Amino acid sequence: MKIAVLPGDGIGPEIVAQAVRVIEVLRGDGLNFEMEPGLMGGCAVDATGEPFPEATRRLVKDADAILLGAVGGPQYDSLPRPQRPERGLLDIRKSLNLFANLRPAVLYPELANASTLKPEVVAGLDILIVRELTGDIYFGEPRGIEMREGQRVGFNTMIYSESEIRRIAHIAFQAAQKRDRKLCSVDKMNVLECTQLWREVVIETSSEYPDVELTHMLVDNAAMQLVRNPRQFDVIVTGNIFGDILSDEASMLTGSIGMLPSASLDENNKGLYEPIHGSAPDIAGKDVANPLATILSLAMMMRYTFSQESISKRIEMAVKKVLSQGYRTSDIYESGMRRVGTAGMGDAVLANL
Ligand code: IPM
Ligand code: MG
Repeated sequence: MKIAVLPGDGIGPEIVAQAVRVIEVLRGDGLNFEMEPGLMGGCAVDATGEPFPEATRRLVKDADAILLGAVGGPQYDSLPRPQRPERGLLDIRKSLNLFANLRPAVLYPELANASTLKPEVVAGLDILIVRELTGDIYFGEPRGIEMREGQRVGFNTMIYSESEIRRIAHIAFQAAQKRDRKLCSVDKMNVLECTQLWREVVIETSSEYPDVELTHMLVDNAAMQLVRNPRQFDVIVTGNIFGDILSDEASMLTGSIGMLPSASLDENNKGLYEPIHGSAPDIAGKDVANPLATILSLAMMMRYTFSQESISKRIEMAVKKVLSQGYRTSDIYESGMRRVGTAGMGDAVLANL
């Protein structure tokens, strides 16, 4: 079981180090994980001039799973687009065909007060956002900025083929079957043809899943419903750009973006696992970042790529215990709790493993 480890930029190396400690404990228990580090994002630009260099391409192609910290930083914002760290992330998703992005938003009862929403609105929240990750306006052609009739125009193309929609719909229906069997498909079919096709294909696919209750919601309404009554949702399926936006919104319902893991899978459950938060350059190197989203991403890796459900549960239980014992990094701190840094949080998780 080969894991490529890409710490990336900003807080990436610190939080990934804590997840690596968890892998080492599992290894000590006899699980045969091989880990190999690689450069990705800004650190790769600094070393090689490219955000996703050839050596890293080979490494991730060879690996069964990839653990990624975060990429990006203000020093890279003025680089040409192909050299930006974010481009590396989009390239790795596209080149490995990681089309299925699973972003769970779960509220741990201990953190109900950390949410900006009232505790009674978010109590018991458990949503899974299934975001299509390799299509849509992110990758559509044509795209660019050019002169037309004496002024600059910027343009992108929102595009989905029915096969792209169908395969992500299958993933979402199957995920719903393992949960509360409710799927809400989010689109903007009142305005955009691309998402009209989305709705049609999701409806066609639903005939294979009579046990799942399918509903549809326009994206603007979905954004509103997520803060009005988020517990109406079980699984949400949507395209790349809407999923990007709604998953950040959903993360805040749970109190901290520092708690949320993600998985990006191909057809064979090979996957890239990363926290959904960014590289947080303002707090990098200060031992304050929350490593739990990365550790929970590792739990997702055990579940989806390695089919090690019991190990996945063991990691998730350790995180739950750490919270119930009162350990908090600054992002989720409340008075009376035990404030710890990145490594201290890692210590607490290891102690509970
Ligand atoms: C995410 C991020 C990325 C995205 C950026 C960094 C390219 O926001 O994973 O949600 O837009 O997909
Ligand atoms: Mg995003």
